[in-house]
Amino acid sequence: MEGHWKTIIEPFRIKTVEPLGFTTEAEREAVLRDACYNVFAIPADKVLIDFLTDSGTGAMSAEQWGAIMRGDESYAGARSFFVFERAVRDLTGYRYVLPVHQGRAAERILMGVACGPGKTVLANSHFDTTRANVEASGAEAVDLPAPGALDFAAPGPFKGDMDVPALEAKVRELGRERIPMVIMTLTNNSLGGQPASMRNLREVSEVCRHYRIPLILDVARFAENAFFIKLREPGYSSRAVRDIAREMFSHAQGCMMSAKKDALVNIGGFLALNDAEWVARCREALILTEGFPTYGGLAGRDLEAMAQGLGEVLDEQYLTYRLRSVEYLGEGLRRAGVPIVEPPGGHAVYVDAKRFLPHIPPSRYPGQALVCELYRTAGIRAVEIGSLMFGRSEGEAFTPAPMELVRLAMPRRVYTQSHIDFVIEVFSDIARRASSLRGLRVVSCPPRLAHFTAKLVPEPA
Ligand code: F0G
Repeated sequence: MEGHWKTIIEPFRIKTVEPLGFTTEAEREAVLRDACYNVFAIPADKVLIDFLTDSGTGAMSAEQWGAIMRGDESYAGARSFFVFERAVRDLTGYRYVLPVHQGRAAERILMGVACGPGKTVLANSHFDTTRANVEASGAEAVDLPAPGALDFAAPGPFKGDMDVPALEAKVRELGRERIPMVIMTLTNNSLGGQPASMRNLREVSEVCRHYRIPLILDVARFAENAFFIKLREPGYSSRAVRDIAREMFSHAQGCMMSAKKDALVNIGGFLALNDAEWVARCREALILTEGFPTYGGLAGRDLEAMAQGLGEVLDEQYLTYRLRSVEYLGEGLRRAGVPIVEPPGGHAVYVDAKRFLPHIPPSRYPGQALVCELYRTAGIRAVEIGSLMFGRSEGEAFTPAPMELVRLAMPRRVYTQSHIDFVIEVFSDIARRASSLRGLRVVSCPPRLAHFTAKLVPEPA
């Protein structure tokens, strides 16, 4: 809507509602204990506001629910597949489209085909499942974030960029044969949900083209990235966001998508590629583990909902509301004296627990201490992105992660401004007693993706 209005409103009205999980403080204390201080083990109906993830937690539109009813459930050649294929092709420009049940299935299939022992994948930053799938193939995953990306207090328009000179140096050092692909994660989830610029994408793509290395995009949050480009990058303010997205895709040879984010669905994903040889091998792996290539582990109705969601997510009223609501939470936390990764990201605000709780060392998981306190205080569920997720312990030796963050990820089209005001109030309360928070110790954890199932105990007072 044109005009001079300051208030940006939720661009929808609500047709179906769900109650929130109200609990008492004593209940929450017991829930935390039973969950071994790992919020992944908390039953969702004991959570008041769930900021654990923005993945698969969004609200679908009436049009998406309508599309669900149109789903064609034929095993092979379902009409819904062709609707979906057309939507992905129109958006990405890539020739071959393989549906999968979620992002990590695309990762596993592609890494299984392209990686393996002795190979190295380079990225602006790998998301944790991407890294795990690269490593599971026997390859190595190396992050090359732009200088300044780890300086969380300093704002910058495109802190999700890749370090292009470092990319070129690494390619020269390893040799192109060892590098099956370069990945750009858009937006950069591991480092604050920050966008990458078109300029950076273009430069990365030029290096890749020069050395004949495929550039693959991880486009879980492509629409948020495209809208940041529109808002922040010179030359893009009057371009349609769909056009900007198309240009992003044009710099790469393929993409992996977790549709649970910017396709506005609860489950789904895809691989879209131009390389016929990779596709033939991916299709084989798809049939082996996901399903026939015209449904890839999904129902026909899921394909319809994704096709519809990929269009809706590019609506600029939606994207204005989306980025503004995350920024609003960031402003509130800043006002409450809580250090955050600056600027707020596209899908989440990341609290810098290292600065918020300087008295808790990384080996005692300051991020997880804050996660537990948010739950204990008000039933808010967040996720640690720090040493619990990325640190390594071998016997007595402990290697911390480079950051100790707590991510408050906002489900799409789910919470309203009063929910966010409440979260800000809770943070103000915790900020006043931050110095009394205690760390935790890990008592058991598996070697890979440990944070999902690790068990912890609080340090004694
Ligand atoms: N890539 C990125 C950038 C992601 O953020 C995720 C998932 C994936 C790939 C994997 O997709 O979950 O559909 O298998 N991120 C979720 C999160 C889990 O909470 O950030 P998936």
